[in-house]
Parts: sequence; C-alpha cells; structure tokens
Amino acid sequence: MKLILYRCLILILFSIPIFSCVKKGGSEKTTVRFLNRPDNGGGWKELIERFEKEHPDIDIDLVEGPDSTNIRENMYSTSFLAGESTYDLAFMDIIWVSKFAQAGWIEPLDNRFTLKMQKEFLPGDIAGSIYNGNIYRVPMRTDAGMLYYRKDILKQAGLSPPETWNEFVDIALKLQSPPDVWGFVFQGKQYEGLICDFLELVWGAGGDLLDEKGIVRIDEPEAISALQWMSDILNRYKICPPGVTTYQEEESRHIFHEGRAIFMRNWPYAWTLSQKDGSPIQGKIGIIPMVHKKGGKSAATLGGWGFGISKFSKNKEAAWKFIKFAAGYEGQKILHFKNGAIPTRHDLFKDKDILAESPYYPDLYKVLLTARPRPSHPRYSQISDILQVYVSKAIVGQETPDIALKEAAKEIRRLINR
Ligand code: GLC
Repeated sequence: MKLILYRCLILILFSIPIFSCVKKGGSEKTTVRFLNRPDNGGGWKELIERFEKEHPDIDIDLVEGPDSTNIRENMYSTSFLAGESTYDLAFMDIIWVSKFAQAGWIEPLDNRFTLKMQKEFLPGDIAGSIYNGNIYRVPMRTDAGMLYYRKDILKQAGLSPPETWNEFVDIALKLQSPPDVWGFVFQGKQYEGLICDFLELVWGAGGDLLDEKGIVRIDEPEAISALQWMSDILNRYKICPPGVTTYQEEESRHIFHEGRAIFMRNWPYAWTLSQKDGSPIQGKIGIIPMVHKKGGKSAATLGGWGFGISKFSKNKEAAWKFIKFAAGYEGQKILHFKNGAIPTRHDLFKDKDILAESPYYPDLYKVLLTARPRPSHPRYSQISDILQVYVSKAIVGQETPDIALKEAAKEIRRLINR
C-alpha cells in the first residue's frame, strides 16, 4: 500500500511539468502565458516570433483580453486568488503593483533585476515597480497623458495652442462645428482612464487625491473646481460629443483620427498610429501638456505597463528569459514601431530610427520625467473605483461636483481607515 502511494506521488510529481509543457513538432516546449489587451499593430506578434526563434524550447502564449485595464486586473486577480498557474507572467499596469505584491501573487525580482539593470530605465517607472523596498515589475512601456491638437487648423485660424482651461474652451468653441467636428475628446467612461484624465485637471488646479502623508484631499476646493470644469466642458460649453462619457482611449482616438475633433487627451501611443501612411491626420497634429487652471501648472498622469512573475508559475526561468528579451532594447523597439509603445529605457530615446520617426521624443522624454504617479496604495483600485462612480455621476449631470466629491472623499476615508 505504502509502495502504491509512493508510486502515485512520484507519478503526480513528474506529471506536473507535463501540464505546463506543450508538444510541438515532437519536442517538448515550456509555455509562458500572459494576458494583455488586443495586439493592435501586431507588435507583440512580431516580438514573440523573434523570441521563439531564438528560444525554440519556449512557447509564448499571449491571451488577448479586453481593452480596459480594470477588467484585466480582475481577470488576473481572480486567477491568482484561486492560486492558479494559468498566467506565468503578470503584465501589470503601474497601479496594480502594490496590490499584487501585497497579496503575495508576484515574486520580488531583486535578484534578477539588479540595481545596475534598473538604472537603464526611467526613474518613474522603476519607482512605480517597487513595493515595500522590493522590485516586482520590469517596465516595458511607459505612458504620460498629453493633449493632442490639430496644428493645421489652429495655424490656419492664427491661434496659438492653449495653456489654460479658459483659453482651451475659447479655441474649442471657435473651431468646432458639431456634430461633424467637436472641440474635445477624452476618456469619459466610468473606468480607470477617467481618473487619469481627472487627476490631470485636479493637479492642474493645485489639488490632489491622496497626498504623501496619506491625507485624502479630493473634496478640497481645487479638486472640486477641476470636476466643475470637466462637467462644464460637457454640459455648459458643449465642446465634447455626448458619447464621450462612454469613451475609452481607442474610442477617443478613432474620432480624432478621423479628423472629427480639434483636441484630444490621450497617451503617447496615439502619435505613432496617427503618423502611419494613410492616416487622415498624418502631419497635421501637435502635442502639448494638458491645459491647467489659471495660476496652476500642467500635469501629466504617469501610466505604463511591465512584467512581473507569478508566484504560482511553474516556468519562472523561461518567464524571466522572455521578460529580458521583451523589455530589452530590441523588444521595446519592435513594440514602439508596431504599436506606438513608449520605451522605458533611456537609451531608446536616443535611437536614430525612433528619433527620425518621432522627432518630438526629446520633448516627450522631459514630460515623462515629470509625469505624476497615481497614489501608490495597496487599495488604490478600490479608491479609484469609488472615485470613478462619483466623477462619472458629476459629468453625466446626476450630481453636483461639490456633493459628488464630498461623498467620494467620505467613502475613500472610510476605506483606507478600515
Ligand atoms: C494606459 C496607462 C495605464 C492606465 C490606463 C487607463 O494604459 O498606461 O497606466 O491605467 O491607460 O486606461
């Protein structure tokens, strides 16, 4: 009986790796799986093909999930909560790091991703990958919010790009001709993107969500004025299409791409896609920092994505090999050219091919170095969920900005003091 039990155990132990190996062409391959948004541009496909060619024993399985960061966060969380080894890598938004690390779902990478290697990356992306003194994420692409505008149209009208909220509204009202061409598109849907856009306005008015001391400041007058303005551009000045409250990044980009908006708030990836051959706005756009309240300063939300290794993965070595390739010089360069991803490595901002294609990179680099992170709190996603509800209520006209933010602040305080 003991022998049978022992044999069963051996069988089980030896069969585990078989589950994570795939037979292809007769040889056994290790599969490394991760979840991401759809591969618009085909950059991941090319990157993975290149990696697999160099590593014939490893198969990379990219699961293309929904566009929304919130939904993918839930998908990873559900799988990790169940202790599943479905995903070997967590391709993480910068705002998930604290939560995933605190929950013990991802491995500290300090032994693999050394301090020397970390220095090759932009400081904000590294800072956002650290939790409690350990590094958990290798930055793969960075992001910072910015304002796109129709350079050709403004120039023709003899107008300079705006700096303040008032200048912005004046220009939008002058140049728009709705419903064909609207003044402004942004990420107005109730999801994380809305908070990124909203925080740029809050910071641009001198306010904050949660300061360094952990004090909730979202019900202060500066933040309220930001929400009031966000609501005004929709409901009072009417410079946004009514559907903007359902837009994520891609919906806004499509409208702008078709030439149906004068201004757009988005991430830098939209630049590369708008410059491709056949684009109706090729060569016609410019970028500037987000407009701010009079007396305030422009602010950009720091975003970005990177790899962590799942605690539950059975293929950690292969996963690390892929991370090193993907986040390396060539990997990031492929993703830049195909998908418009903004590199996280300093050296790629001096790359001749990239500079030829994106002459605005030296300016972008400066913006990236000053972009502001969202609060690094293990409960950030819950904080943001609360705020999303109330910001959304205010911009669709269900609540006044003042009451909406007072309610939001109350709930956020309750949550973080729990
Ligand atoms: C971009 C950013 C990410 C942010 C998301 C919101 O993907 O990189 O940090 O959370 O947009 O939609």
